[in-house]
Amino acid sequence: MEYFYKITTYFSYVKIVQERTFPHTYAMVFKRFIPPVILTKFLSLRILIMDNVNQNIISQRLKGITESATLEMTRRSRELKARGFDIINLSIGEPDFNTPAPVKEAAKEAIDNNITHYPPVAGFRGLQEAIVEKLKRDNNLNFSPEQIVVSNGAKQSLANIFLSILDPGDEVIITAPYWVSYADIIKLAGGKVVALQTSIEDDFKLNPEKLEAAINSKTKAFLFNSPSNPTGMVYSAEEMAGLVNVLKKHPDLLVVSDEIYEHINYSGKHVSIASFPEIKGQAVVVNGVSKCYAMTGWRIGYMAAPLFLAKVCTKLQGQYTSGAGTISQMAALKAMKNPPQDSEYIHEMVSAFQDRRDLLVEKMGEIPGIKIYVPEGAFYLFPDVRSYFGKTDGETVINNATDFSLYLLNKAHVALVTGEAFGDPNCVRISYATSGHLLEEAVKRIKTALKNLN
Ligand SMILES: Cc1ncc(COP(=O)(O)O)c(C=O)c1O
Repeated sequence: MEYFYKITTYFSYVKIVQERTFPHTYAMVFKRFIPPVILTKFLSLRILIMDNVNQNIISQRLKGITESATLEMTRRSRELKARGFDIINLSIGEPDFNTPAPVKEAAKEAIDNNITHYPPVAGFRGLQEAIVEKLKRDNNLNFSPEQIVVSNGAKQSLANIFLSILDPGDEVIITAPYWVSYADIIKLAGGKVVALQTSIEDDFKLNPEKLEAAINSKTKAFLFNSPSNPTGMVYSAEEMAGLVNVLKKHPDLLVVSDEIYEHINYSGKHVSIASFPEIKGQAVVVNGVSKCYAMTGWRIGYMAAPLFLAKVCTKLQGQYTSGAGTISQMAALKAMKNPPQDSEYIHEMVSAFQDRRDLLVEKMGEIPGIKIYVPEGAFYLFPDVRSYFGKTDGETVINNATDFSLYLLNKAHVALVTGEAFGDPNCVRISYATSGHLLEEAVKRIKTALKNLN
């Protein structure tokens, strides 16, 4: 190893020195004896080997964290695309719409007005006030601006909360299937994930008895998500009331409500679990502009929390990222000022999603052995595909949802995400944040590929 390191170091020096000082000689002599492709491969092999040595310094905390499966699938499909395959990517978790024009204008104005200096850690007062107004207007929630912390996306809001409240061994109850990052954020904060399994048979909904049975002296929080990623399930107010009856008996337990898909709801007006007066004071709302305003890249999310928690999260955020980007904050302010019922933009986007959902439900429903739950929100279908487990095309055996999604990627050139990443090994997630035309083509390909399985 030592010799390998010395030799490769020598070659890299020779290459750099020759390239810089004698470019002509380098081209004439060095390239002639060692073609650049081989040299590059040789040097990257060295980096790989040296990387392995350096991995020893990674913390135990990080070793338990997995790469996001949705990002992994996107990476694989990009690789295949780069090799010339015509891949339809249905693994993506963001709207295929662009940020509304007035929002973009507000960002440009912010630049022109030099709103480019460090912002307050918890967000501009004007944005905090707009969020307070939005929570009152859309969700019947009463918070003060001091209770609002603006962050780099709802993901950071969740990380702030769990890093602030969890000690090793503390438990957080979530419902499986769950959004990929929940489990890893909780683990990163030192907590233990208690995932209560639901299935397509119970519409992916948690019942109060199951919740009650899972709460013990170590339970610090219950993480609730409606409309849900990955299932598209939406709890009714009555169903929420059942859960609230349990939660109110445990006033020390924090109820974290992730409402990021709030406006992408086909079943009626969004209800926030935090609006139940019985749990007022123990609820934290997490929301943001990513999904409903097609602003995933602007990275603005927020929490509305009990004052003590907002203060401690601000302290934490102040020490590692400071306030969210000023230009993005001004853009988010513009987006949130507009009531959703007046927003043509939201209407158009949600109605397009609903049409695609109907199309996908109909077409996927025609494929034998695929069990469909009709989503009422978000932009995902989460079909149960377990009837294909044990089948083969003579080459590949499908043992689980991961094999199923890899089979479709390789044979149908359609990228989905395995349900295993979301805590449900019987399902796969299909994002319909893409055109109806591509969805039809994708289903056609899936149908053909699945016909070959026996
Ligand atoms: C359920 C859920 N919560 C939170 C987030 C994070 O959103 P943001 O882009 O604001 O970080 C996502 C993003 O995919 C999500 O699906």
